[in-house]
Amino acid sequence: MKAIDYESRIPNNVDLGGDRRLQRALEKWQPAFLDWWGDMGPEGFQGNDVYLRTAVSTDPGGWANFGHVKMPDYRWGIFLSEAERDRVIPAGDHAGKPVWQTVPGEFRNQLRRIIVTQGDTEPASVEQQRWLAKTAPSLMDMRNLFQVNVEEGRHLWAMVYLLHAHFGRDGRDEADALLERRSGDADKPRILDAFNQPCPDWLTFFCFTMFTDRDGKYQLGSLAESAFDPLSRTCRFMLIEEAHHLSVGELGLERVMRRACELMKEDPNGDVRDNGGIDLPTIQKWINHWFCYSLDLFGSEISSNAADYFSTGIKGRWREAKDYTDHSCINEVYQMDVVRDGKVTVEEVALRNAMNEVLRDDYVKDCERVVKRWNKAIAAEGVDFTMKLPSTKFFRRQGIYAEHAFDPEGNLITHSEYEANVANWLPTPEDREYVDSLMIAVTEPGKVANWIAAPKRGINKQDFGFEYVRV
Ligand SMILES: [Fe+2]
Ligand SMILES: [Fe+2]
Repeated sequence: MKAIDYESRIPNNVDLGGDRRLQRALEKWQPAFLDWWGDMGPEGFQGNDVYLRTAVSTDPGGWANFGHVKMPDYRWGIFLSEAERDRVIPAGDHAGKPVWQTVPGEFRNQLRRIIVTQGDTEPASVEQQRWLAKTAPSLMDMRNLFQVNVEEGRHLWAMVYLLHAHFGRDGRDEADALLERRSGDADKPRILDAFNQPCPDWLTFFCFTMFTDRDGKYQLGSLAESAFDPLSRTCRFMLIEEAHHLSVGELGLERVMRRACELMKEDPNGDVRDNGGIDLPTIQKWINHWFCYSLDLFGSEISSNAADYFSTGIKGRWREAKDYTDHSCINEVYQMDVVRDGKVTVEEVALRNAMNEVLRDDYVKDCERVVKRWNKAIAAEGVDFTMKLPSTKFFRRQGIYAEHAFDPEGNLITHSEYEANVANWLPTPEDREYVDSLMIAVTEPGKVANWIAAPKRGINKQDFGFEYVRV
């Protein structure tokens, strides 16, 4: 295993110095990245010291170093997980054959599209979140935001490295274009819809890191099972970083729920909003919105592209190599809910064509695990309320359910029934305005905004009162 080289201009563990041409090309891209960070990275605080972790090795145990750094001095670099010896293709028609170290010509376009689409989400989320530090509910939350932001920047590096190293001229052009698109821009939007949505408040940020970053976890997981080994190794290391982003969302939401419960107990006859908190039904609406938006990112339920990616070995299922014995899936079927003649019925779909749905199922299970923990936390406060994930058919804008109306339980309803009830299910303009009114920065160490509970644990064994950002 090569150690991370921090002497080079671009920290890396891929022996970049051994390939001068590649090194020069990436060193040309680096100032453009830093310009992008200056323009589109977090607004303000660029000159402040932030308690950030930096990768020092790619070993899952003890890989990071913590210390105060100014964000522009963060060492964005190229880190791949250690190569697995004698790794074979995990899935599809070529399962069991040696993995590819270079891109096979016949899969070049598909692989490039996948890498560009993944790469595009990374800077997009930084752009979506760029105003949030100004309303951070505590210094630790602000630090977590910045940690997520710098690592999404690093994930962009991870994809740009693959484009530069394996896709020649086209790859370099795509790497440039990744810095040119802008989240929410009318002319040059980011590729995927969820990444063009605004992230105006911290409840949204926690939902985004809980649900949308978790989609990222599953996309990266399926690419970690790719026959293209450099992609697999890249994604495996990204997954290690991603775990923290998910915990920011999960624990952030839990703290908003706990605070709502505290306010309910302090003033049993009062209204949580009158006491400056975010009531549980409002949190549920945000969950409904972001869970469903993130479901769309998995692609259509029945998809010939998904079948192609699986059969060629470009993608595998979540934990394909570890959890499955049949890696071919040919002649297997998936029982899919479809709408026929105004009714939901079950139809058999070729399993390979249902691979997006298979991955979505794993994602939903993972989300359900977290919802159970939230409900435990609510019950521990003595409050009688249960958070729920809506049905995967509810509020979809893509896929086979998009043109129909469903309620959060998954019942097929008319569009007018939907319109009559949607204000109970999804954030209304008034809800957004209320949540927005709470967004006022708290920057004194150890203090926290009224609408969210203090975290139970600090970062890297530091106290909550630690100066996570020197403001
Ligand atoms: Fe990422
Ligand atoms: Fe992330």
